[in-house]
Amino acid sequence: MRIILLGAPGAGKGTQAQFIMEKYNVPQISTGDMLRAAIKAGTELGLKAKEVMDAGQLVSDDLIIGLVKERVAQEDCKAGFLLDGFPRTIPQANAMKENGIDVDYTLEFDVPDEEIVKRMSGRRVHPGSGRVYHLVYNPPKVEGKDDVTGEDLAIRPDDVEETVRKRLAIYHEQTKPLVDFYTKDAEAGLSKYYKLDGTQSVDAVSQELATILG
Ligand code: AP5
Ligand code: ZN
Repeated sequence: MRIILLGAPGAGKGTQAQFIMEKYNVPQISTGDMLRAAIKAGTELGLKAKEVMDAGQLVSDDLIIGLVKERVAQEDCKAGFLLDGFPRTIPQANAMKENGIDVDYTLEFDVPDEEIVKRMSGRRVHPGSGRVYHLVYNPPKVEGKDDVTGEDLAIRPDDVEETVRKRLAIYHEQTKPLVDFYTKDAEAGLSKYYKLDGTQSVDAVSQELATILG
């Protein structure tokens, strides 16, 4: 099963990726998590990405395409994968095609911008795993601690309101055109396209996904 999760920052891609990974046993490829890991490790990629990400802008297509190509070629992705946060520009989507990386499903989470700004202020993440929580909508079992490791949760540096608004603007400008791109693919019978109401509860969205994916 090869899946793309498409949606604005904060639409719930990472949250539902956790659900899909556990239920269908497909590896999650989150370009955001990969970049954050590179920043933590202090690699050359991390050094290049940090400033761009903190400013809410997109890392260059070349860097990201190289990263994903390498990851998709690994053994655990042979039977399928779940793309979270990639592709998010038309050149990235074209690069997938040029490299023969096909998908079965594109799943779009639709959430209005104002709801997203509210959500982001309550987000907490476990930096080691990328697991995502929300103070109100998806709280951890113990306040401030990751459910699995018990380690401290953190606030993402790009979750301040001003940066969230910038990320939303970039989403509308550069990523939204992918809705058309993959709708056309679906019309041509190349893959399936589903748009989900991402304002439902976390569990309701997961249930809808389970109905689609079977
Ligand atoms: P990335 O990490 O991919 O961030 P993003 O796309 O901006 O998305 P988020 O992770 O912010 O949101 P999400 O949809 O995963 O929502 P979540 O489940 O966490 O990218 C970060 C940066 O890296 C980019 O800005 C860019 O610089 C760079 N980058 C990454 N990929 C790139 C690429 N391909 N090309 C170029 N640059 C790239 O949920 C959000 C909150 O809402 C959580 O608190 C959650 O608990 C809560 N929530 C989730 N679902 C619900 C629900 N149904 N109801 C209520 N609350 C909910
Ligand atoms: Zn995410």
